[in-house]
Amino acid sequence: MQNLDWKNLPFGYVKTKYNVRCYYKDGKWSSLEVSDSEYINIHMAATALHYGQEAFEGMKAYRGKDGKIRLFRWDENAQRLQHSAEGILMAPVPKELFYEAVVKAVKLNEEFVPPFGTGASLYIRPLLFGSGAEVGVRPAKEYMFVVFVTPVGPYFKEGFNPVKIAIVRDSDRAAPLGTGTFKVGGNYAASLRGVEKARKAGYSSPMYLDAKEKKYIDEIGAANFFGIKNNTYITPKSTSILGSITNKSIIQLAEDMGLKVERRPVPVEELETFEEVGACGTAAIISPIGEIKDLETGKVYTFCKDGKPGQISTKLYETLVGIQYGELEDKHGWVTVI
Ligand code: PLP
Ligand code: COI
Repeated sequence: MQNLDWKNLPFGYVKTKYNVRCYYKDGKWSSLEVSDSEYINIHMAATALHYGQEAFEGMKAYRGKDGKIRLFRWDENAQRLQHSAEGILMAPVPKELFYEAVVKAVKLNEEFVPPFGTGASLYIRPLLFGSGAEVGVRPAKEYMFVVFVTPVGPYFKEGFNPVKIAIVRDSDRAAPLGTGTFKVGGNYAASLRGVEKARKAGYSSPMYLDAKEKKYIDEIGAANFFGIKNNTYITPKSTSILGSITNKSIIQLAEDMGLKVERRPVPVEELETFEEVGACGTAAIISPIGEIKDLETGKVYTFCKDGKPGQISTKLYETLVGIQYGELEDKHGWVTVI
């Protein structure tokens, strides 16, 4: 086991020992290669560099009290990477190859999987991009698939404590019929101005509204939004948000707990009516929100008035994390011990 300050790890890059790579050429994927270099050598005219032909995934490996390492719903990440590949015309990575690469990258860096009870985990970053040279705007003929890992702590410095979010209206992350449902780099490039604006105003993350009418809640930075009221879990339905695997899982857990679930457009003024609101994602896990400020109108919505996360958010968080770390029964078959 590496000697790191596991309890105080930020959400950032830590060098590990190995990464794995493979190449798509002449219509076929190569076998996996193991590398100890943090660098990749690609053509300067690669489509990823010029036209943003790139997609990635984000998942985690969790070490349980029993010392075993678990993946959470890896097949959903494999499927989403295929969806992203289709969205920007890249060669999809077969599911078996995705699994083999992820397991290999984790096992080769097993000493970096944080110990149980530290709140940290091993973040897994699969990356697919056009590596072939093109100058005209067209898809590459060659692709590279890389998986690297890095141990991480909480995405928001607050951990499981209320965060502050800012509604940003002067930039959009994704267009209604654009690339929002794909996990492609361009969406994150488009979000950087909003992220910076929120941070400068003292907020952890931007909240984006729908790009067309600016009436409905879309997403929160790199996480989905949910609100809870009257025993109902409500989360936006939109053509420009990324389908979150965490959100999909929480929806199931909410139903298991007897909550009603609604997936529908959520008007921004409805924020007034929620008892609890939060952000969810692999990195964010479940982050309760204490304040949302509309930076343009100055309107402030306040939650968690006692400074603590709400009861339902807490139960959802404990159940989700309990399953991920192997503490609670995995009723839905979400966990793979590797
Ligand atoms: N929305 C965006 C824009 C994201 O980047 C992420 C992170 O992956 C999510 C939502 C949450 O998705 P997931 O729960 O699958 O990690
Ligand atoms: C994730 O939750 O995996 C994300 O994608 C967050 C990341 C963009 C930092």
